[in-house]
Amino acid sequence: MELIFATNNQHKVEEIRAVLDDNFSILTLKEAGIDIDIPEPHDTIEANASEKSSVIHQLTGKNCFSEDTGLECEALNGAPGVKSARYAGEHKSFQDNIDLLQKNLSGKSNRKAQFKTIISLLLDNKEYLFEGICKGQIIEEQRGKGGFGYDPVFVPEGSTLTFAQMSMEEKSKISHRAKAVKKLVEFLNNYTPSTNN
Ligand code: IMP
Repeated sequence: MELIFATNNQHKVEEIRAVLDDNFSILTLKEAGIDIDIPEPHDTIEANASEKSSVIHQLTGKNCFSEDTGLECEALNGAPGVKSARYAGEHKSFQDNIDLLQKNLSGKSNRKAQFKTIISLLLDNKEYLFEGICKGQIIEEQRGKGGFGYDPVFVPEGSTLTFAQMSMEEKSKISHRAKAVKKLVEFLNNYTPSTNN
């Protein structure tokens, strides 16, 4: 079965290809011949993930999935959340986003935060959602050079390192995205069209 993954992030695609069995073939947007900036107009991570997969399904008529991720801080009532990529503006600067986050958290003792990933799978005209959460806290200084986004200030529960101080393999063992992908892969590897429709 062929599935389009609504991303052009080759790393994310390889991660999923490595764990899916041979019955599935994953195409990036580019490989599927699609060149669009998919909108993210909604107020929730779930709704944006659904929007992305439904846009791709409307364009291609094919089975597909998308993912959307946000960082939710307890003391900021879940912000930046769905706005994580554009927290400090449309230019989507990782450093500006971190700076604004630190400013908004300054003076607050509650530094608890979590990353949430939602994967929306549209398969045989049905939608399935898979969630992955990684809890942790935002530290005041930046540590590490790896990863991306808010990684230099996020220390996951049970660790003393930020995500940016971990290797990709270490991060992938505990990350929000890895947890959601694991659920997707388990579902797909057990999926048979006749029993699920
Ligand atoms: P996306 O939907 O996966 O592109 O994520 C939206 C935004 O959330 C990104 O631009 C990053 O700022 C942030 N983000 C998502 N995943 C991670 C992560 O694993 N580490 C740090 N920041 C992340």
